[in-house]
Amino acid sequence: MTRHLLKLLDLSREDISEILDLADQLKYNLKNGIKHDLLSGKTLAMIFEKNSTRTRVSFETGIYQLGGYGVFLSSTESQLGRGEPIRDTARVLSRYCDGIMIRTYEQEKVEELAKYSTVPVINGLSDFCHPCQVLADLMTIRERMTRLEGLKVCYIGDGNNMANSIIVGCLKCGMDISVACPSDYSPHRTVLDFASTVTDAKLTLTENVEEATAGADVLFTDVWASMGQEKDAETRRKAFRGYQINAEVMALAAPGAIVQHCLPAHRGEEITDEVFEAYADAIFDEAENRLHAQKAVMALLIGKK
Ligand code: CP
Ligand code: NVA
Repeated sequence: MTRHLLKLLDLSREDISEILDLADQLKYNLKNGIKHDLLSGKTLAMIFEKNSTRTRVSFETGIYQLGGYGVFLSSTESQLGRGEPIRDTARVLSRYCDGIMIRTYEQEKVEELAKYSTVPVINGLSDFCHPCQVLADLMTIRERMTRLEGLKVCYIGDGNNMANSIIVGCLKCGMDISVACPSDYSPHRTVLDFASTVTDAKLTLTENVEEATAGADVLFTDVWASMGQEKDAETRRKAFRGYQINAEVMALAAPGAIVQHCLPAHRGEEITDEVFEAYADAIFDEAENRLHAQKAVMALLIGKK
């Protein structure tokens, strides 16, 4: 696989399978008390320029379980917050650490970090994508449905970082994906261009929630206003009214369908409390699988299998 994990567009179907297979194995090892210190003595720098609960805790516990150590850096407390360039930060951290995880705004910053770093860089969310989350989502779907290829996935809501990664992840794994979103909030052009090159799976883009949901095996949604969009929250609330996973929408899905949400969820906006709680088991499996999927990514990039 590639030396970094910057976006799913950079991975092949085989790379994704390799990560998911190792993630399953590491989950089994953890649950059965089987030692898996694949990153003994290694350190991961974790840069956070946005808030996080799951990403921080799953990376920090993940590297610890692999025998290594995670160093947390927030933009407010590090020199990044005082304007030290990312290319200098990359070269400094590469001298101390064996890998760098970054959560930030611009995808270009993640790519620049990787350009100047001599150690693997992992994208822990940018405005463009959230690859670690979607690897955990694919792991969860495969666990629950026993396969990926041939499933029908739908995503309802904002064409944001999650939508971009879900589209790429699904198409790379041979799953058809329908996205229902208002036309002004479409997924990124790069992702739509990629989708148009895929021949064995299909992206359907629509403004119609019912059309996207019909017969879906997996239903995704995400918040209407992402981190950094707080000032547009009211406008977005109006634009996305109706783009919600609720009981009526679930009635159109395939029998045995599951719901996935990267969390945090805004009940009453993109998902009703009733649906969230009815499908909570799969949603919290998804959150748990962040740990296992990221351990696999770190082991493959930083260590030896
Ligand atoms: N899903 C996710 O990335 O959660 P956090 O923002 O809590 O890290
Ligand atoms: N789209 C959300 C995902 C949070 C994990 C955001 O970027 O805030």
